Amino acid sequence: MIKRLTGGIYNWLDDRVEISVLVDFVHKQMTKPVPKHLNWMFSFGTVTLVFFASQFVSGLLLMIYYEASAATAYDSVKFIMEEVRFGWLIRQVHSYGANFMIAFLLLHSLRVFFYGGYKKPREVTWLFGFGLLGVTMSFGFTGYLLPWDQLSYWGTTVGTEIAGSTPFIGKYLLIVLRGGETISDVTLTRFFAAHVIVLPWVFAMLVGAHLFLIRYKGISTLDRTDVPEKTSEELLKDGGYPFYPKHVLKEAIVVLLVLASMILLIVYYPLPLHEKADPFNTPAGVKPEWYFLSMYQALKYMPKMIGIIGSGLVILALCLLPFLDRTPERRPSKRPWAVSLGILFIVVNLALSLLAKVAESEYTIGGTRYHFDTYGWPHVIASPAEDTITEAPESVDETEAEE
Ligand code: HEM
Repeated sequence: MIKRLTGGIYNWLDDRVEISVLVDFVHKQMTKPVPKHLNWMFSFGTVTLVFFASQFVSGLLLMIYYEASAATAYDSVKFIMEEVRFGWLIRQVHSYGANFMIAFLLLHSLRVFFYGGYKKPREVTWLFGFGLLGVTMSFGFTGYLLPWDQLSYWGTTVGTEIAGSTPFIGKYLLIVLRGGETISDVTLTRFFAAHVIVLPWVFAMLVGAHLFLIRYKGISTLDRTDVPEKTSEELLKDGGYPFYPKHVLKEAIVVLLVLASMILLIVYYPLPLHEKADPFNTPAGVKPEWYFLSMYQALKYMPKMIGIIGSGLVILALCLLPFLDRTPERRPSKRPWAVSLGILFIVVNLALSLLAKVAESEYTIGGTRYHFDTYGWPHVIASPAEDTITEAPESVDETEAEE
């Protein structure tokens, strides 16, 4: 088909650089069978990949006008948003894209967890994936500082402080991250270098290895790990089907729906650029990005040292999951313990994030005004009779003190 379409050019190239080897390889990959149980949740990895591609392109475009120094960063982002043609769109695509990429990365990891996709013989695929999680979080962390507004400046101050409480090496880690005692021009320069050079290269290598292993090993079936993996012929006999076109179509639909929702959010709820960073004015209720909130909040309930060691152990356990959980079952219905633990993990993280979100803010709930302290516990500050603010007795009102 391809040969007929491209005709002469194909033959000319094939005579010289044997392009047919590449075409046959791609064809083989596209038609490789996938197991029959694949549903739309198996598209989350591809959605993450599409967001990375979008981040790469929008990031390159932003670099045309962005100037990475404390004196110019904020104004250059403002210029991109207000003066450059379609600059606002590119910045929104990049800022929203970062959040979407992390959200789908977490969903993808959960999908792999619940379907036992990390089990033998895909342990190494999981390890490369875990590396990608770390690199993607680091993209978020370093990128957050770049606009140099109040939120990014103070959010990074809090984030680096957490890293600084790591036992034994914390003091040095803090200096390495900040390039000094406080967040400064030096911090911005090293975060920028990490964001646009170091992390993209590491990401490219890890994602290459991850995708290679996925294609090489194929997506896992729901069979136990103590029976041999199915060959392509066995997969087809068992109801599996070629990757292209059915699964590609399913993935394309999910990707398009997700991109469409992002465009809607960009149009109706564009992300703001806050006031320019002011190192001498700490705004109230500084918090890190949503994906760090649960850890940030958890650290408040225990001595810092114990919290950091505890979080480190949880992260290590997740990284080594394929070696800790060596049970042969993959079917979620036959792994009640693993599934319950997974659900508990999600609930605890959501609860901690919610507590972090309401902490150090005021809300009116059912006509009563509450102040939520740093732990997220509510304290009544005015009864409805005394309160002149007469919102309808709805669930939760968005009047945050910090805004
Ligand atoms: C930017 C990051 C990532 C990208 C682009 C990516 C991409 C993909 C894709 C396209 C697949 C095949 C389809 C699917 O299952 O969705 C996949 C499978 C897989 N991913 Fe990822 N992934 C990423 C991060 C992760 C992370 C964080 C983990 C776990 C910690 C992980 C573990 C796995 C495993 C074990 C499989 C094989 C699952 C199976 O065969 O059932 N990946 N990944």
